Amino acid sequence: MKNILITGGAGFIGSHVIRRFVTNYPDYNIINLDSLTYAGNLENLRDIETFANYEFVKCDITDRAAIEALFTSKKIHSVIHLAAESHVDRSITNPIDFVMTNVVGTVVLLNAFKAHGNVTEGRFYHVSTDEVYGTLGDDGKFTEETPYDPNSPYSASKASSDHFVRAYHETFKLPMVISNCSNNYGSHQFPEKLIPLMIHNIKNNKPLPVYGKGENIRDWLWVNDHAKAIDVIFHSGKNGETYNIGGNNEWKNIDLVHKLCEIMDQKLGRDAGESAKLITYVTDRAGHDFRYAIDASKLENELGWKPSVAFDQGFEKTIDWYLENEAWLENVTSGNYQAYYNNMYTNR
Ligand code: NAD
Ligand code: DAU
Repeated sequence: MKNILITGGAGFIGSHVIRRFVTNYPDYNIINLDSLTYAGNLENLRDIETFANYEFVKCDITDRAAIEALFTSKKIHSVIHLAAESHVDRSITNPIDFVMTNVVGTVVLLNAFKAHGNVTEGRFYHVSTDEVYGTLGDDGKFTEETPYDPNSPYSASKASSDHFVRAYHETFKLPMVISNCSNNYGSHQFPEKLIPLMIHNIKNNKPLPVYGKGENIRDWLWVNDHAKAIDVIFHSGKNGETYNIGGNNEWKNIDLVHKLCEIMDQKLGRDAGESAKLITYVTDRAGHDFRYAIDASKLENELGWKPSVAFDQGFEKTIDWYLENEAWLENVTSGNYQAYYNNMYTNR
């Protein structure tokens, strides 16, 4: 049995990656390491938590002693590292948390893997973001050669952790791979992010806070297609390489919100146009990147990955999931969520 350590498995993307690996690879022992911040929720993994090849370890990746102890007690074959502070708005109000988890935590894991991991057969996989490349104008796409130019504290912390992973490859010959992905959508996403936040607010007849003029553009990929790309890159990617992952599916925020409103009107039995009346333009995000778009041809041509789900289909599936899982949404929006929401959106 190979011990594969997946960090951040209780979060949005991590839970989809864990589910895929636990069910597809019975010869791997999957260790989910997560400190369960506000964004981590073991409810996301109820369906697989009793599988024999799955275990959960509650641990903070910045806790050097605990990480060392884990790596010395278990022979870790490989690491797939997703644990992070992931929300851009929170990075603007509290950058230090992003430095600690995303930069320091990544280096703690790199050191532990270098000292105790299987550096001859295994690898360190860093799951990163397209935001490290900065922002695009109306044309062009990010390729693996685009220079790093991060604009938010979040993207600066992810760029920094990418650089540490590369540096460990160059300096210590650590086997590693990095992927940089565009915006994900799907089930189990914390409702601070655009799509689940808007679904939650439409359901509750609350204002839909669109930043600025709603003209910023994002490239949306179904989360299970990201998990599939991670699987493919983990198994077939070349050490020392970076792979871009994207959906080739660009949407202006305001168009996406209108589409969501139309579908929600139908699903909630509302008159056409009713949900869209909730759209409220609010103060823009500071340093708001205008456009992200990914050229994923390296991944497609070299490793044969491509998105499997058309956006219309994936989007509707996603909306249905949130409507059918009201208890999940209620659970994650109780407690600290109210304080966060008031702080972020009152007087905006
Ligand atoms: P998320 O916020 O939903 O989940 C993050 C997980 O990490 C949570 O379970 C949380 O408890 C855990 N965590 C946070 N700090 C930790 C710490 N110090 N120690 C241990 N665990 C900790 O994030 P997500 O959207 O699932 O993103 C996962 C990864 O993918 C991140 O590295 C993010 O940068 C990257 N990414 C996200 C997207 C996206 O669209 N969401 C796109 C590209 C890349
Ligand atoms: O590109 C990949 C990145 O995508 C990931 O690395 C990040 O972890 C992930 O959070 C996401 O970042 P964004 O900032 O693009 O996602 P978010 O859902 O926060 O916002 C999407 C767009 O919607 C963005 O242009 C800001 C806008 N927005 C967001 C919120 C929360 C609004 O207009 N109103 C809102 O209330």
